[in-house]
Amino acid sequence: MTTVAVTGKGGTGKTLVSALLIHFISKKSNKVLAVDADPDSNLADALGVEVEKTLGEIRELFQTSRDEMGTMNKEQWLEGKIYEAICECKGYDLLVMGRPEGEGCYCFANSLLRGVLKKLTRHYEYVVIDSEAGLEHFSRKTIDSADYVLIVTDMSKKGLATAKRIKELTKELKLNFKDIMLIANRIANEAAEQRIKKFADEEGIKLLEILPYDEKVVELDLKGIPIVNLDEKSGVYRRMSKVAEVFLKG
Ligand SMILES: Nc1ncnc2c1ncn2[C@@H]1O[C@H](COP(=O)(O)OP(=O)(O)OP(=O)(O)O)[C@@H](O)[C@H]1O
Ligand SMILES: [Mg+2]
Repeated sequence: MTTVAVTGKGGTGKTLVSALLIHFISKKSNKVLAVDADPDSNLADALGVEVEKTLGEIRELFQTSRDEMGTMNKEQWLEGKIYEAICECKGYDLLVMGRPEGEGCYCFANSLLRGVLKKLTRHYEYVVIDSEAGLEHFSRKTIDSADYVLIVTDMSKKGLATAKRIKELTKELKLNFKDIMLIANRIANEAAEQRIKKFADEEGIKLLEILPYDEKVVELDLKGIPIVNLDEKSGVYRRMSKVAEVFLKG
């Protein structure tokens, strides 16, 4: 199983990268799990699919009915509910994490969930996670590991600072990823390309791909068309297909 977590500052293109990765990887493998771990989830929209239930809702249900469950096996109950929540989409499965928990202690629910998710992901060849900005999931939430971390950034100061911070956090938290790589997005000209290469060099992050600013992406966005319908000739489409190849090779 190969797990790829896509992260970076808000609005840099995490969902675009995740959706296109899922699109390309699921052409080659029929065991792909897409996870939307961003509370402001929109991965389903980007993929053009609909999701009925989120993991957050299940956790909420578990929290409120836990006391009435008596001797029932709670892990089994959760496992069943999670299977219900998994959307069987076009060539891949999708699980939406949804909103974070409300007041109260969710430690028990989260620890159970962690176990169930670990078990669940074993059924897949590829797991692609569209993460919220930052690395919260890795430090305390239900997803505590990934093989590859893809940091998406644009040329904004904040985008670059977040990329740097994520790289440092993985060290501080002693998270053992196989590789942490950078994807530069919305790069409009040669000068920006040179700047991002220099940044990657200085920070010691492997620059996996540079995605251009793409009018075709803007057009789809304006029309509300899922990004996976992007013109095959578009720069972003072609380059993301190359990115997917890296993971397909293992
Ligand atoms: N290469 C590009 N060219 C033009 N527009 C782009 C490009 N990449 C992303 N966008 C646009 O930028 C916006 C943000 O992209 P996206 O939703 O993928 O970012 P995100 O990091 O997932 O954001 P959020 O943090 O809100 O989840 C979208 O409107 C998208 O269409
Ligand atoms: Mg997003």
